[in-house]
Amino acid sequence: MGQGATRSDIAVIGLGYVGVTVAAAFADAGVRVLGIEKRREVVETLRRGRCHIFEPGIDEVLRRTIGKRLQVVSEWPAVLPRIVVVCVSTPADLATRTPDLRNIADTADEIARRLPSDGLVIVRSTVPVGTSRKLVLRRVRREKPRAGLAFCPERTVQGAALAELRSLPQVIGASDERSAARAARLFRKLTRDVVVVDKPETAEMVKLVNNCHTDLLYAFGNEVALLARTHGVDPLEVIRGANQRYTVRTDGVAVVRPRIAVPGYVGGGCLSKDPYLLLQSLGGRPPGKSLVFAVRELNESMPARAAKEVLALLRAAGKKPAAARVLVCGFAYKGKPETDDLRGTPATPFVEALRGRVGRLLGHDYKVAARDVKAFGVRPVGLAKGLRRADAVVLLNDHPRYVRELTPRRLATAAKRVVVYDSWRILRGTRIPGLSGVTYGGLGWVGA
Ligand SMILES: NC(=O)c1ccc[n+]([C@@H]2O[C@H](COP(=O)([O-])OP(=O)(O)OC[C@H]3O[C@@H](n4cnc5c(N)ncnc54)[C@H](O)[C@@H]3O)[C@@H](O)[C@H]2O)c1
Repeated sequence: MGQGATRSDIAVIGLGYVGVTVAAAFADAGVRVLGIEKRREVVETLRRGRCHIFEPGIDEVLRRTIGKRLQVVSEWPAVLPRIVVVCVSTPADLATRTPDLRNIADTADEIARRLPSDGLVIVRSTVPVGTSRKLVLRRVRREKPRAGLAFCPERTVQGAALAELRSLPQVIGASDERSAARAARLFRKLTRDVVVVDKPETAEMVKLVNNCHTDLLYAFGNEVALLARTHGVDPLEVIRGANQRYTVRTDGVAVVRPRIAVPGYVGGGCLSKDPYLLLQSLGGRPPGKSLVFAVRELNESMPARAAKEVLALLRAAGKKPAAARVLVCGFAYKGKPETDDLRGTPATPFVEALRGRVGRLLGHDYKVAARDVKAFGVRPVGLAKGLRRADAVVLLNDHPRYVRELTPRRLATAAKRVVVYDSWRILRGTRIPGLSGVTYGGLGWVGA
């Protein structure tokens, strides 16, 4: 039998971004946790008290809990604890837009063999609506007919996951009242704020619509950028004007009306694929007729649009793109909160759109390892060196350190002209945009 199995209160299956933070948060809250992860190297790293992913605060929690309340194994134990939380990956094939549910199906089969007869399976992975009951519970109940099910979505933001696990409401949709109560009792160890909905399918849909709604809000910012551009108007000025003090009074209290998002890329492991998990929910409509997919199409088009704008700015600065050195900064899919996560990063389509069209691609990131930057077919460089050499500097993410460290002196503009493509316009308030020798632009804005 695997280490620690029967002494644990819960098992957490899959120790990636979600599982490792969930396992650590429960262990820190006094729950005895058995983490099961099929990647042996991850288990070995965790056993040494180190974390394989970047997440603020996780190392401290691991130091307190690993080998004590938190045990980690790569082999399934013969008998699982009575509550199992499933956090395995549920990717989608973006070429075919098809969800890949093999991990979760395999996990359900393993659980079925090992769960105590009145065990509870809590699905935390994001899944197409209906999956927890029709795929997971059905498979588990083939061997354990009394097993219960709850779907409790992960809704934290990477980079603030541990804090949010303790503050965000936990949504619970279960197959029956007892399962809902058991899941609620567990999650109340993290937060007092538990929202019980009527059934697993509702909770599954909560997760998907939360993410599709975020995707939609970002898409509207991008739509504004495209509209503004056709009129020579700066989208950020439009958005500033639209949002500022635009409140509504409800019961005497000023509440901000929905804010327009600034233009930007939409990346990450979730937003880039969760809309595709909704595909079966279209009620027979073709995807082209669904708002969810129009949104995806627009957001997915932004990196290639940006690459086109960079080429145009290079020409406007009197440079031949084919001879230009382009420094790409910020490969992680977002800079704030910072992360090393490359899933769904705009760097992939952006670099692809420039490859073969510019002389040389250099790359920099504060959190992503140089070898991972190199895997994009880009030469990793230190920021200061890259800035000195570059004909164009592209900020792909909004990491705040770029605002401090992309200084006029480092750009070495005295010697030559340089293009600065500031996708998120985080340098807007600095001296860079107006600097002599700088041709400045950002999403939807290529100068007056
Ligand atoms: N990353 C996020 O912030 C986030 C947020 C909300 C929801 N989600 C959802 O949570 C789920 C997990 O996401 P993630 O980001 O942690 O993914 P991940 O790829 O980082 O981690 C998943 C882990 O599960 C492991 N695994 C897969 N099959 C296994 C099996 N049969 N037995 C043991 N381990 C197995 C993998 O090796 C991997 O380490 C996905 O459904 C995702 O959509 C993620």
